[in-house]
Amino acid sequence: MSTKTIFVQPGGGYNNVVVGNSEVRVPASDEITVRLYANSLNYHDFAVVSGMWGPTEQRIPMADGAGEVIAVGTEVSEFKVGDSVVSTFFPEWIDGTPLVEGFVTVPGDGIDGYAREQVTAKATSFTLSPIGYSHAEAATLTTAGLTAWRALMSDDSLKPGDTVLVQGTGGVSIFALQFAKMAGATVIATSSSDEKLERLKALGADHVVNYRKDTNWGETARALTGGRGVDHVIEVGGPSTLEQSMIAVRVAGHISIIGILSGVAGQMNFVPALIKQVRLQGVLVGSRSQQQDMVRAINATGMRPVIDRHFPLTEIVAAFQYQETNQHFGKIVLDI
Ligand SMILES: NC(=O)c1ccc[n+]([C@@H]2O[C@H](COP(=O)([O-])OP(=O)(O)OC[C@H]3O[C@@H](n4cnc5c(N)ncnc54)[C@H](OP(=O)(O)O)[C@@H]3O)[C@@H](O)[C@H]2O)c1
Repeated sequence: MSTKTIFVQPGGGYNNVVVGNSEVRVPASDEITVRLYANSLNYHDFAVVSGMWGPTEQRIPMADGAGEVIAVGTEVSEFKVGDSVVSTFFPEWIDGTPLVEGFVTVPGDGIDGYAREQVTAKATSFTLSPIGYSHAEAATLTTAGLTAWRALMSDDSLKPGDTVLVQGTGGVSIFALQFAKMAGATVIATSSSDEKLERLKALGADHVVNYRKDTNWGETARALTGGRGVDHVIEVGGPSTLEQSMIAVRVAGHISIIGILSGVAGQMNFVPALIKQVRLQGVLVGSRSQQQDMVRAINATGMRPVIDRHFPLTEIVAAFQYQETNQHFGKIVLDI
């Protein structure tokens, strides 16, 4: 059977995005077939589709996919027909420490992803979705949700009373705010927009700072902790934000190195890292078992993701062009 599919031609670029068909095979014994209903957009998917890190061969984009199981292989006991499922960023990384460098095993980059109506894949390519989530809500979790979860709950052990600093209002940072509040932490959130700062407060941020108006936002965050410094920074800005993050963080605090929104290279003053004995932890999403932990936590708390806007699958280029404007607050979703 063939199914409607988005392809990115070698090299990527918006002019290289085409709508076509791909084949859906009957599941092998360890596979399931899923009718996909939603994708969510991430900066990484943007890099593939826009050509920034375009594919070397034709590729079906999008790492985040959610839908309903429509067929199950003979040896799969974890899923049944009708289950709502969400994709895993690393289908081969089940648990424990990371296995590989980079994106060679990642759907939508090293292997084909989920910008299509149906897919047959190994059962480990999915987990159950949170109970009661729409497919669009579930599709927000694979990359942004799990990155925030792993940074705070697996790499660190966040506890009530800790203070977390989140930068900007993209997908990862808003999930980090929500998970931090779930854990009873205090959250300091930054944005370039005063209107978005109000929305962050409505989501539970305890303190907000406009990082455009207050370029010493690291000092401000530190002052907001009474001079102690924040316990954990969700560092998505990259080279141009790390210096302020180092000022904000407490002695022996944790900085999750997650994003490169301000570029891929810059200068780093090593002295604050040494004298503060900061933990700088690189993060690349997370394992399947970390995703299952996250889903359990969502089921227990009823936390819902923030979706900014929906586009139809065939308007994938318009969706990425909208993401490029940075107008969004939370996640952008494709409906399939
Ligand atoms: N390592 C990983 O596992 C992993 C996983 C997911 C994402 N990422 C990376 O993390 C970053 C964020 O991803 P995302 O999906 O959350 O992105 P996103 O949704 O596109 O976030 C964009 C938002 O980030 C804020 N921003 C932009 N430049 C900034 C800067 N210089 N300083 C502070 N905030 C800035 C802006 O918020 P305001 O409009 O409020 O100012 C902007 O709206 C990207 O670099 C992405 O590649 C890494």
